[in-house]
Amino acid sequence: MKFDKPIALAADHGGYELKEAVKAHLDEIGVPYIDYGTDSTASVDYPDYAEKGCKAVQDGTCCLAILCCGTGVGISMCANKMKGIRACCCSDTFSAELTRRHNDANALCMGGRVVGAGLGCKIVDAFLNAEFEGGRHQKRIDKMMALENH
Ligand code: RB5
Repeated sequence: MKFDKPIALAADHGGYELKEAVKAHLDEIGVPYIDYGTDSTASVDYPDYAEKGCKAVQDGTCCLAILCCGTGVGISMCANKMKGIRACCCSDTFSAELTRRHNDANALCMGGRVVGAGLGCKIVDAFLNAEFEGGRHQKRIDKMMALENH
């Protein structure tokens, strides 16, 4: 995997430790990232971190986002409310791979209280190693994005 832009990382307190584990993993495999916080386990609000990570994708600073909260659910709901963001909450590698290949997902969300660091990093690898297949999937992505106007 080769990325010409960094990955945006962001988490609330529930996802902080998983985000730190993902950072260490990205360092190991040489993938660039920008950390948009949070910086501790002190309580914060996950919508604020969904916004920070996804804005970096929207404005082209980053190519993809990896977002963590306690379950991965709240931060994915927030991410999917932002224009142009296609976020998937994953706790298995198959979904993480297929959401890139078929849904052209640009944000991976995980729960720090759901997956441990080991599985979380495997999910990250599955997501980052996969590429959008286009073809028959593009028409469905176009329909998906049109739903933003409803
Ligand atoms: C925070 O306690 C928790 O609600 C949050 O991290 C997340 O799990 C929400 O979906």
